[in-house]
Amino acid sequence: MNANLEQIKQEIISGADGLNSSKEVYEFRKQYLDGKSGKIGLLMREMKNIPNEEKAAYGKGVNELKEWALTFIGEIDEKMKAKELQDRYEAEKIDISLPAVENAEGNLHPITLVKNEIIDIFAGMGFEIFEGPEIETDYYNFTALNTPQDHPARDMQDTFYLSPEFLLRTQTSAGQIHVMEKKQPPIKILSPGKVFRSDDDATHSPMFTQMEGLVVDKGITLCDLQGMLDEFVKKIYGEGTKTRLRPSYFPFTEPSVEVDCSCFQCGGAGCKLCKGTGWIEILGAGVVNNKVLENCGIDTNVYSGFAFGIGIERTAMLKYGINNIKLLFESDINVLNQLNDK
Ligand code: PHE
Repeated sequence: MNANLEQIKQEIISGADGLNSSKEVYEFRKQYLDGKSGKIGLLMREMKNIPNEEKAAYGKGVNELKEWALTFIGEIDEKMKAKELQDRYEAEKIDISLPAVENAEGNLHPITLVKNEIIDIFAGMGFEIFEGPEIETDYYNFTALNTPQDHPARDMQDTFYLSPEFLLRTQTSAGQIHVMEKKQPPIKILSPGKVFRSDDDATHSPMFTQMEGLVVDKGITLCDLQGMLDEFVKKIYGEGTKTRLRPSYFPFTEPSVEVDCSCFQCGGAGCKLCKGTGWIEILGAGVVNNKVLENCGIDTNVYSGFAFGIGIERTAMLKYGINNIKLLFESDINVLNQLNDK
């Protein structure tokens, strides 16, 4: 073989030792085998300078070298690609026996869960949602609800006044007035929201959540209220739950009642939750006082109504067996994780 060809072959053999990637192999192959600029490619162009009688042998030699180089570099290329693939498999290997990284899953706050549950129940009975403002005037929170300035019932609720006229609403009942001012009966609304009172102990918080219900239509009586509450307690506390009405007082309802339900823990036999009585107080309610309807321009000869107010925190505390209302507001993840709907 031509000495030059032999030299190129040796160069390829020793050069191949230094190749570390398929990219390098590609460049290396180009250096020798590229038709125009590769060293072997260029050998063919030398043909014109070769004496005629040597041309055939020279051509054969170059072709053989080319074939050999193609195979030789091709094999290296194959091995390199196989190794690279293997390396990638190793690097991207998933160890399915490794314990998974736990994904912290969010959950609705217990107050939201209870609120949604109550809304679902009443929405199923055809109630619409109305959300009133948290800052109210004295008129909406008290006066229109038949609680004028000098009324002793004002002392039932310690109020945060922002000014002589404005205050943080102490009850979602204020929303009743907004609704009745805007709309003539039939009215069937549910009004959830935050309320505020200067009150703070294990079962009271200065901010808490209420759910107001108001129905005004022709011929509404206390029986309608009790029938509806019977349905409500069965849905929220279980089929066997019963209600009991006790006389009470609210300036905006007449008659007024406190509503108890039979203890959903002991079924009425008496336990720690119901303090041995078999009954648990769940809400305040009553027939809407005619004075309130009149304040809103509703004809009391035609219409009557009932209203109720549920404390959401109290409902959540009963449902989840919590004895301190603060646990619902401290955002302690260990507590909240126990109070979810899963
Ligand atoms: N607003 C009353 C309270 O906060 C509850 C209530 C609402 C009572 C509607 C009767 C009717 O205590």
